[in-house]
Amino acid sequence: MLSPADSLAPEWLVEPVDANDLPTAVWPASTARDAHGVIQIGGVAATDLVHAYGTPLLVIDEDEVRARARAFRQSFDRAAADHGTTAQVYYAGKALLTTTIARWIIDEGLRVDVCTGGELEVALAAGVAPASLGFHGNNKSVAELERAVEVGIGTIIVDSAIEIERLSAITARTEATQRVLVRVISGVHAETHDFLATAHEDQKFGFPLPEAEQAVARIREIPGLEFAGLHCHIGSQIFGVAGFRESASRVLELHAALLESGPVPQLNLGGGFGIAYTSVDDPTPIETLAGEIVTAVAEGCAARGISIPALSFEPGRAIVGTAGVTLYEVGTTKDVALESGATRRYISVDGGMSDNARPALYGAQFSARLASRVGVGSPQLSRVVGKHCESGDIVVDHEFLPVDVTPGDLLAVPATGAYCAPLASNYNHVPRPPIVAVRDGRSTVIVRGETIADVLSRDAGIDAPEAHR
Ligand code: LLP
Repeated sequence: MLSPADSLAPEWLVEPVDANDLPTAVWPASTARDAHGVIQIGGVAATDLVHAYGTPLLVIDEDEVRARARAFRQSFDRAAADHGTTAQVYYAGKALLTTTIARWIIDEGLRVDVCTGGELEVALAAGVAPASLGFHGNNKSVAELERAVEVGIGTIIVDSAIEIERLSAITARTEATQRVLVRVISGVHAETHDFLATAHEDQKFGFPLPEAEQAVARIREIPGLEFAGLHCHIGSQIFGVAGFRESASRVLELHAALLESGPVPQLNLGGGFGIAYTSVDDPTPIETLAGEIVTAVAEGCAARGISIPALSFEPGRAIVGTAGVTLYEVGTTKDVALESGATRRYISVDGGMSDNARPALYGAQFSARLASRVGVGSPQLSRVVGKHCESGDIVVDHEFLPVDVTPGDLLAVPATGAYCAPLASNYNHVPRPPIVAVRDGRSTVIVRGETIADVLSRDAGIDAPEAHR
């Protein structure tokens, strides 16, 4: 019979035999408990990290990022070579972009995809060769496009007819030649764990397939633009290859038609490769995905009697997601009696939706472990919440944690490397945490934490109270 608290557990959540275990898919490979039961990442104990940098703290395992970046590059290189073509891997910087991370990525032979002027500046500041950059966005400003063309960016992924004309004017003025891809909507929309295919998708990115041919024709007329091919991104946190296969097949139809009026050297199939957030997620290994996706493209080309183009991909989450672990300190615990008779344990930590908005934004599930010691007693279903004045401020909705979790303990939330720091805010005037890289027993700050002074620094009434009365 279920105890009252267990009856609150969602069906998918499996009660661990030991709530101190570290399920491998969600943690960096280096994660282990040391002789004192403290979680260590990259050879550095969570307690030492917190002693040095405080909480909340985003810890990034450098070897994990590098290994995943390398796995993508090697897997796609191999798969492409097997089918007589090449593949480039662009790291989607929106997942987590700092100059240090950009340097690791380049070091591992990847390129970088940026989607704003700000991300472009981070990549340039990191020393990424402009030719290795791709530039995305449905509303790139004239200033952003000018900057990109001026620095000699490798590829601009054009998203609208207006953008084509903006680039026409910029390249005419600067006498530059800019390589562009055309982003199309394949009608395939990835839902987590599945995909939907609709003929007309109601969304803001790219050209609907029937309109793309005209856009390409216009680009081919403009002397300053070099048409390099089509781009398609079907969504994020995708498991399996079915969505990629369907999308590639639809886009190849247009690709083949475009070949009749000129060269179409490339095809970029975007990113979206899913990762494990909880122990029930089981993503396909990247080697398998790469092989299956490239084979699907090759088959699609063979069926249309065309040769396979140069391929590119844009993984973000799958490179940095499980390389990141957030450490929090427990502040309070509460057992809340519900009307149903069940009791839910709430564990409050010293961060929340300001450092991880994903649960509030997407209902995203995460997992957690007691990090500063091994817990004793049976696992208890718990909800980890933040310190913000909002009931949706949830960090981990459902997790079995040791029953003796208490104020002062450290909790570790894995798989926070992607889309947590980039989506962070100063809600409730909470400073954003530092980002620390770990490797071989050493830690380095790669983004410093904000101070309260940083947070207050834009309030114009603080230094000049009289002027703002
Ligand atoms: N390429 C394009 C054109 C994209 O729009 C994206 C993500 C990627 C590549 C990288 O996708 P990834 O491999 O990381 O799934 N904030 C959301 C995710 C938004 C993704 C936006 N575009 C989240 O936290 O789940």
